[in-house]
Amino acid sequence: MPKTWNETRVAATLGIDYPIIQGPLGGLSSQRLTAAVSNFGGLGSFGAHGLDPHAIQDIIGEIASLTSKPFAMNLWLSMEDDGAASSDAAAFHQALSHLAPHIDAVGGKQPAFSPYKRLRFEDQARVLLDAKVPVFSFIYGVPPREILEEARKQGIVTIGTVTTVEEAVVLEQAGVDLVVASGFEAGGHRGSFLRSSEDSLTGTISLVPQTVDAVTIPVIAAGGIADARGIAAAFALGAEGVQIGTAFLACKESGAPPVHREAILSHHAGHTGLTRGFTGRLARGIQNELMESMNRSGAEILPYPLQRSLMRHLAAPAQQAGKAELLALWAGQSANLVHCVAVEDLLNSLVRGAAARIPSTRDSYSQDKAPTPAI
Ligand SMILES: Cc1cc2nc3c(=O)[nH]c(=O)nc-3n(C[C@H](O)[C@H](O)[C@H](O)COP(=O)(O)O)c2cc1C
Repeated sequence: MPKTWNETRVAATLGIDYPIIQGPLGGLSSQRLTAAVSNFGGLGSFGAHGLDPHAIQDIIGEIASLTSKPFAMNLWLSMEDDGAASSDAAAFHQALSHLAPHIDAVGGKQPAFSPYKRLRFEDQARVLLDAKVPVFSFIYGVPPREILEEARKQGIVTIGTVTTVEEAVVLEQAGVDLVVASGFEAGGHRGSFLRSSEDSLTGTISLVPQTVDAVTIPVIAAGGIADARGIAAAFALGAEGVQIGTAFLACKESGAPPVHREAILSHHAGHTGLTRGFTGRLARGIQNELMESMNRSGAEILPYPLQRSLMRHLAAPAQQAGKAELLALWAGQSANLVHCVAVEDLLNSLVRGAAARIPSTRDSYSQDKAPTPAI
């Protein structure tokens, strides 16, 4: 019996109908979106890196009350950059001086310095393990061996994210079940961990087949996939699943504010850029006045996660004022391909389009490794 496009090792390992993963949207996730994708037969994910363990526990309970299907909870391995712990009030005020005119422009309140409260990956991961979440996904590194072993014992599927082939090999050696190969087209943060983010800017079309060649675990393609053509292309490169972020962010079920969703759907979202200015780490969003201002030389950027906390003092009033030019408008390079505003419509079009485009004798795609040179 020929296999249909969706019968891949990714779908089998995750116990889902369609190997389509709604990418974790840290900070803009919603329980409703996560559950809706899982209920449809894909894998919904919730990005929980910014939350304390109690909040994470509550969210797992809420998602579990909305779906009986598998879903993923996502964390970041590396939670602070060098200098964050020792950063002082003087550094805060220097970074604020660049932002202050923008906060004034949207009628926000200028923030005061407050000492930094650290969140630890290990404490967050404990909640995921104790709750026996169906899937534990992560970026920015490799979890400690004990955590991966405990996940395996509990039957929790693990998914790591890579931005280079070398990172994929390290994750496979650590015993991670599935790997997301995220090209530089992707919206938000990509999670480089062996080299700097600036030195890990490989595109999806290069990264996916090289990752497929380098590891035996199934590869999920991410970055720039926003419609069924992207899924077919990813499968042609050897991926056995896709992870999509920006297209899900534009859905009304996501946690993005209306002004952000409208910017993605505006068809003027194609001009994206990379900046460290929004969080302290390199990430992709729509080019706007804020990104230009933060990328201007001389702008003081605090180490992650301090810059992210500082920027929240602008985000809240800018959202309230509906001022898209002064918001971090996370989006990937295929934002202009996004049309769907409801998650069910998006998933229907992805599934129907993939079935029409990907041959059912898919074995010629996903089991493909690079041909041996004939010399
Ligand atoms: C707003 C936003 C937040 C994101 N947060 C996370 C996160 O916390 N963890 C993670 O693994 N990926 C995160 N991502 C990456 C997505 O999960 C996904 O891999 C990426 O968006 C795929 O590229 P695309 O945007 O071109 O579809 C985020 C992406 C966006 C747009």
